[in-house]
Amino acid sequence: MFVRSFLMICAFSASALGLAGCRSLPPSKPASEWTPQEARGAAVYQAKCARCHYPTSTRPLNGPGLQALTKLKAMPSGAPPTDERLTAVILHGRQTMPGTPLTDDQLNDMLAYLHTL
Ligand code: HEC
Repeated sequence: MFVRSFLMICAFSASALGLAGCRSLPPSKPASEWTPQEARGAAVYQAKCARCHYPTSTRPLNGPGLQALTKLKAMPSGAPPTDERLTAVILHGRQTMPGTPLTDDQLNDMLAYLHTL
């Protein structure tokens, strides 16, 4: 509970002050250490998601920043960041986020990449 509130306060002050990110979140895996699958997922992300989400920041763009997404207890909606939930959000969208049709390979690569954030 304490950790959750702390993260929320931290995410809030990071966006309110326009800081690059929230120091209490674990850092994203550097590109130099990506596996081939994670690198393929990053390319899919650049093509399909980057215009609406910063990957390595909590600052919002069109949608919430996704830094440390899979390491958090809950996503902005409150749902846990499981692969099943992420798959549903990616393929079908959520509220103002449009669904993104992906092949099974693209989806698996994307999920691997999201775990590096
Ligand atoms: C046109 C802009 C747009 C695109 C493209 C987009 N998103 Fe989103 N995304 C949003 C918005 C807006 C929200 C907030 C939706 C809401 O109100 O819950 C969101 C929410 C999310 C969430 C949080 C879901 C939750 O339960 O809180 C995740 C994760 C996410 N997007 C991942 C992705 C990924 C991965 C892609 C690429 C396949 C992507 N998005 C493409 C706009 C976008």
